[in-house]
Formats: sequence, C-alpha cells, structure tokens
Amino acid sequence: MPPDLRGRRSRDPFWVVVGALFNGIQWVRSLRTPVIPYVRPVDRGLTLVVQETRREAADVVGLRLGAPDGGLLPRWQPGCHLDLLLPSGRRRQYSLCGDPADRRSYRIAVRRLPAGGGGSIEVHEDLVEGRTVRVQGPRNAFPFLASESYLFLAGGIGITPILPMVQAAERAGADWRLVYTGRSRETLPFLDELAGLPPGRIVIRTDDEHGVPRSADLLRDAGPGTAVYCCGPAPMIDAVRGAFSAGTLHYERFAPAPIVDGRPFTVELARTGTTIGVAAGQSALEAIKAELPSVAYSCRQGFCGTCRVRVLDGTVDQRAATDQGGDSMLICVSRARGGHLTLDL
Ligand code: FES
Repeated sequence: MPPDLRGRRSRDPFWVVVGALFNGIQWVRSLRTPVIPYVRPVDRGLTLVVQETRREAADVVGLRLGAPDGGLLPRWQPGCHLDLLLPSGRRRQYSLCGDPADRRSYRIAVRRLPAGGGGSIEVHEDLVEGRTVRVQGPRNAFPFLASESYLFLAGGIGITPILPMVQAAERAGADWRLVYTGRSRETLPFLDELAGLPPGRIVIRTDDEHGVPRSADLLRDAGPGTAVYCCGPAPMIDAVRGAFSAGTLHYERFAPAPIVDGRPFTVELARTGTTIGVAAGQSALEAIKAELPSVAYSCRQGFCGTCRVRVLDGTVDQRAATDQGGDSMLICVSRARGGHLTLDL
C-alpha cells in the first residue's frame, strides 16, 4: 500500500491484529518476569582509625578499627575479610574476628611473620592507636552457611574467620565442635574468649603437648551431614581435604596452595630487561619478588586480583578461577605455557 502524505503506511487490518497479539504476549511475559531493580554499586572504600591494639598471643596483635567520627560501619557476616591498604602501598587481607553485631568497630588479628612480605610487620609496627588506615570491604570469600551440625578446624591464626562462626553456631543452638591446633598455647590467640563457650565442644591440640595432629585426629567428630569449616596452614587443609568425605568441607587458606605440575620457565621484566628463572615449585610472584620487592600482591591464591600484570609476550597457563585469559595474568598462581613470558613490569 502506498504511504500517506506524511510518509506513513496505511494500516493493513491483518497486521493491526498481528501487532495487537504480539503486544499482548509481551505484556503477559512481563508479568511473569521478576523486576530486578538497578542497584548502584557501593564504594566500600573506608578510612578507619585504629581505636585499640591488644596482644592476643605471642606475635599476634589484635586491632580494633572504627570510623573516625564513631559512626556505624557496614554490616558483615562470619567469614568476611577486610582489605587493608597499608601506608607503604601494600595490600593485605585479614579476616574479621569480632562480633558482627558491633556496628562501631571491626576487629582483626595479625601474626607477625618476619619472613613474610612485610605486611604483617607493617601492621605490628605502624598501625598504632590513633593511626588511620584505608580499607576496602567487608567482603565474603568464605561464606558461613546454615547447618544443624558443624566441625570447625582452626590452625593458629586460622582461628580468625572461625571464631565468629563458632560464636554464631552457639547462638543458633547448632551442634558444633572446634578443634584448635598450634605449636603451643602461647601462640594461640583468643583462648580467653573460647573459655566462655561450652568446654565440652572445644579441643585444643598443641604440637608441644600432643604432637602434630593427623587428619584422623582433626576429623574424629565429622559425621555424615556435618559441615566442616577449616582455616589453617596449607598442609593442614590438604590433609583434611584428602581425608574428608562424610559431609561438606569449606576451607580458607592463609598461605598459597602447593604448586601442582609446575614446570620451570623464565620471565622477562620488560621495564628493566631483566630475565628471571621461575623454578618448578615456585610461583612467578615469588621469583619476581626477589628481584622486585615492591611488586603488588595480597592473597597469593589467585582471588583478590592485586597481582594482575599485563602480558606482553608468551602464552599463559591460566590457573586462577578468576583469570579469564586476555592479555594479563595473576602472577601468584598462573604460569607460562611455552617456557617464557614477557611481563609489563
Ligand atoms: S595476590 Fe591475590 S590474586 Fe594474586
């Protein structure tokens, strides 16, 4: 049909009916589709002040952080951590280990690691009462899920995410047990707080009194259906993972996982032209850190993204769940596929 004088086509009755049917179907569909409201992203960057420091165990300091004006802080759940952006520029993650109902302060606890990357020493020496520190979070990479029965396994400073979980399980009336291990009682933080919980549910195992625990010692109370939450050194987590089959295992490492099927490779740092060898059992981050101590990193486990670096040449063996390929890699876990990489460092 020819268009009218304004260029509009005449309306054929057949297409009018088809159009009305189509619009009707769309309208019915829209009634069934849930409306997802647009949520503006929240900037969780906060500047907090160190309200209090406290010695929690040998080489462990506890810090309470609050808003400079004493205002309310964002909510958190057991398992959450904060990213601390330290004055040196280092970024480190620490589990929240206080009371989620306390909206005026966050508590973290940090063990001093003289052979670490310097972050823990900076916390111990520089974050004194009254200092401010920039943080991001809280974020939850270790969610605590409802269950009728729990077995909590904590190794040393690994008690930090576990403690609020234990307290939440006790408040919820769940059936729970905690096995808390470490070198000696002096090295175990928060024994005083645990003393306020039912003693029959807690086993403290220290190497100097009982010897290094075996997985069977840790998992004795893991019955079918028990949710097991474990945080501790890598050998403890690996032993538990290897031995546990009865229920659900949730774990968080505070040290990198062992490297599986690692092959040696070389990395060229493009900005200086330096070439570094990465051994089979070593991460690229470790090798680069020896040459470039200021290289940025935090979790060393491939989830925080701090160590992401642009790859200028070579093929990457992407080993992090969060690595989607492209022209970058997480140097704490990913490796070279062809024996050599050139990085924008
Ligand atoms: S240091 Fe966190 S992803 Fe590499």
